[in-house]
Amino acid sequence: MKPDAKAEGVLESYTLDVEGMTVEVQVTQSTSQYVPLYSIKIPGLAEGTKIILDTQIKGELVGEVNIDISEMLDARKNKYVRDAFFSKTSKVLLRHFPNLTHDNLRVLTAYLMQYTLGLGDLEPFVHDESLEEIVVNGSHQPVWVFHKKYGWCITNVVIKDEKLIQDCAAGIGRRVGRQINLLNPLMDARLSTGERVNATLFPISTSGNTITIRKFARNPWTPSLFVKRATISPEVMALLWLSIQNEMSILVSGGTGSGKTSFLNALSNLFPPNQRVISIEDTREIYLPSFLQWVPLSTRLPNPEGKGEVSMLDLMVNALRMRPDRIIVGEVRRQREAEILFEAMHTGHSVYATLHADNAEQTISRLTNPPISIPQTMLGALDLIVVQYRNRRTGIRRTFEVAEMTDAGGYNVIYRWNPRTDRIEKVQEISALADRIGLYTGMTLKEVRQDIADKSQVISYMIRNDMLDIESVGKIVAEYYRNPEQVLALASRVEGGRR
Ligand SMILES: Nc1ncnc2c1ncn2[C@@H]1O[C@H](COP(=O)(O)OP(=O)(O)OP(=O)(O)O)[C@@H](O)[C@H]1O
Ligand SMILES: [Mg+2]
Repeated sequence: MKPDAKAEGVLESYTLDVEGMTVEVQVTQSTSQYVPLYSIKIPGLAEGTKIILDTQIKGELVGEVNIDISEMLDARKNKYVRDAFFSKTSKVLLRHFPNLTHDNLRVLTAYLMQYTLGLGDLEPFVHDESLEEIVVNGSHQPVWVFHKKYGWCITNVVIKDEKLIQDCAAGIGRRVGRQINLLNPLMDARLSTGERVNATLFPISTSGNTITIRKFARNPWTPSLFVKRATISPEVMALLWLSIQNEMSILVSGGTGSGKTSFLNALSNLFPPNQRVISIEDTREIYLPSFLQWVPLSTRLPNPEGKGEVSMLDLMVNALRMRPDRIIVGEVRRQREAEILFEAMHTGHSVYATLHADNAEQTISRLTNPPISIPQTMLGALDLIVVQYRNRRTGIRRTFEVAEMTDAGGYNVIYRWNPRTDRIEKVQEISALADRIGLYTGMTLKEVRQDIADKSQVISYMIRNDMLDIESVGKIVAEYYRNPEQVLALASRVEGGRR
């Protein structure tokens, strides 16, 4: 850092373990920059050594390390590949640097391994749980990252050559059976480690080759975690739970990155365990509790000759023949997909899907206008719309609206988030939804309210007892379906005991 650099405020420093290599991270905010700087440093790896590794040793390794890694899904997880890589790389390194200590040898090998078997310069970012997104916009500017606490940050990593960006994208594609080249300049892929990767090549992306990596939430979101993080209140989550129990269909909408898929995933924790669930996605993101009978399906792009495509529509039609109790559809974009979705609801299936729209009104208008154009009367088959919201400036995410559908295909907003109080507030009493639940269960409005209060108590119980992960939430939910009185007694007893 130049001594005359403007006052540099360190926001946070921490270290990451990247496959055995320690990486130091520092997030700083200088008064001369509009965005924070996220810088990484690899101790034990001097700039001079890095240049030798980059210019000479990587080339030599290609010849010496004779392992066909392109065929492997995730070579780094394979102990045989790792051991073989380590011993061959050590030999090459010791030839160049005969005086290397064991520790240094480990750092250099890990660095080379991240290039040969991993994502190269992008690898350390993928290991940082605080990052949501990692993007390369071309070789003319540094890599950007989206930090959970600080939002978009610029980094001290630049991929200096367009060719390297293309190679990195092509390497990712090869590992998952997708291609990116001048004829196919757009690629969507999902790594076996869960990350979702999109890449585009110049001249389609006019200022250079791009890579966008969406990190995978290793701990999937759950209803209790959303409540604990103030995304939604226990009462509103309880209302959704009651609706799910009674096989209502729910559409989760919101803007890009607002948390639609995460929310859909969390809702699936509330499915009763004795049911068959089929999920359909372009790239697999959904992850359900292990006790459910779950068949995940994902689409396939056509091969370079244009053959072998399996579309979202194909899978939706197929799913209906698989005797599903619940169908989860990653994202609805096209008319035929929406038609099949509503057809499925009409024929008595419980369907859960996401749609891109900013509020309930826009959700309805997107569904009923071109290109989707579902007739308004068909919308009555849907029961609820939940809208997720992300504040782009602060990064906070909240459930913005919950709306019930009426039989005629209209909607009533029941809850709406108030930005001034940061609370989700009741706009009006449930009516159409309570009628529908009553129709199937015989419950009166009073009983519906009591049930919501009970479930709300169970959710609070989970939070008090730190039951935030998918398996422990799943266990309580399953127990609740089996013996609600017992779980309720437990939930209220602990509360009483604390008073
Ligand atoms: N309530 C929340 N609080 C904090 N972070 C959240 C919340 N919901 C989701 N996230 C995080 O936000 C990121 C984006 O979430 P997700 O993929 O679910 O959004 P999306 O709306 O489906 O995005 P897309 O429009 O790309 O499909 C993920 O890293 C996820 O872990
Ligand atoms: Mg999504």
